[in-house]
Amino acid sequence: MALSNMLDVVRMKLFPPNYDAWIAKSHRYKERLVSSGATYAGQWRPLDDLSFADYSGDIINASHRHLAAAPLGHQGVDFLIELGITGYLRRGDALKLYELAFRAPGDILEAGTNKGLSTSILAQAVHDRGHGVIETIELDSENSVEAKRNLAGRPGSESVTFTVSDATRRMNELASQGKRYGFIFIDHWHGYQATIDAAELAKKLLVDGGFVMFHDFLDPGNADRRHVYGVYQAVLDRIVDDDRFSFAGVSGCCAIFQYAEVQSAR
Ligand SMILES: C[S@@+](CC[C@H](N)C(=O)[O-])C[C@H]1O[C@@H](n2cnc3c(N)ncnc32)[C@H](O)[C@@H]1O
Repeated sequence: MALSNMLDVVRMKLFPPNYDAWIAKSHRYKERLVSSGATYAGQWRPLDDLSFADYSGDIINASHRHLAAAPLGHQGVDFLIELGITGYLRRGDALKLYELAFRAPGDILEAGTNKGLSTSILAQAVHDRGHGVIETIELDSENSVEAKRNLAGRPGSESVTFTVSDATRRMNELASQGKRYGFIFIDHWHGYQATIDAAELAKKLLVDGGFVMFHDFLDPGNADRRHVYGVYQAVLDRIVDDDRFSFAGVSGCCAIFQYAEVQSAR
């Protein structure tokens, strides 16, 4: 287990966090979004009122339409999209992943490969847009090998680098090499500390105008005091507090933020 993952489990047991403060903070952010007239204010869900979201953007092209029409019911679960690779994505997740990867102002970084389901969507988008590369990071080498096998022959697979590493470690390396990305998808370990690390590193890794998307941000596990999930809380503490990020909506179980190098005046 990676160090940040372990820290999450230990911290939860030894120092039960203050959910009431996070709930209050999530309501204050909603008020701030509404009073500033932010475009996506209506999509923000406070921590004590989490629910999943349908995709609300336009359908861009044939590949995107394919995701909009793909069957659900993967592994017998009525809301999981079936794209021929094992994984746990809602249609709203898949459509947003494609849209952001297709429109991203730069290369793409993914934390959490698993069997390559989300990576296959990113790869298709990079193939369709005709430029850019993807790096996907996975702790478990067997998963990474299987993902590479699953993507072989699929559009865009030649643009993907499969890296076996702890995501925090690899994102640190990439930041110190001066790498920058137009879109970062955070979907590895959904505990508080790992997400804090990823959010901090996203600040160093995103280009101006780039997007970061946090998977399982809307999962009810975040609001359950006995659950190890802390995606929502980490986003509140590292992204929402930073005026360089603006809320760009929710889709499926994900939240999206856009990064601007120069702090906004809101
Ligand atoms: C939810 S799955 C990723 C799903 C994938 N994005 C998809 O849509 O198919 C999370 C993956 O992150 C990996 N993981 C867990 N902790 C990690 C860490 N600290 N760094 C990198 N990968 C990690 C797990 O082995 C698992 O395969």
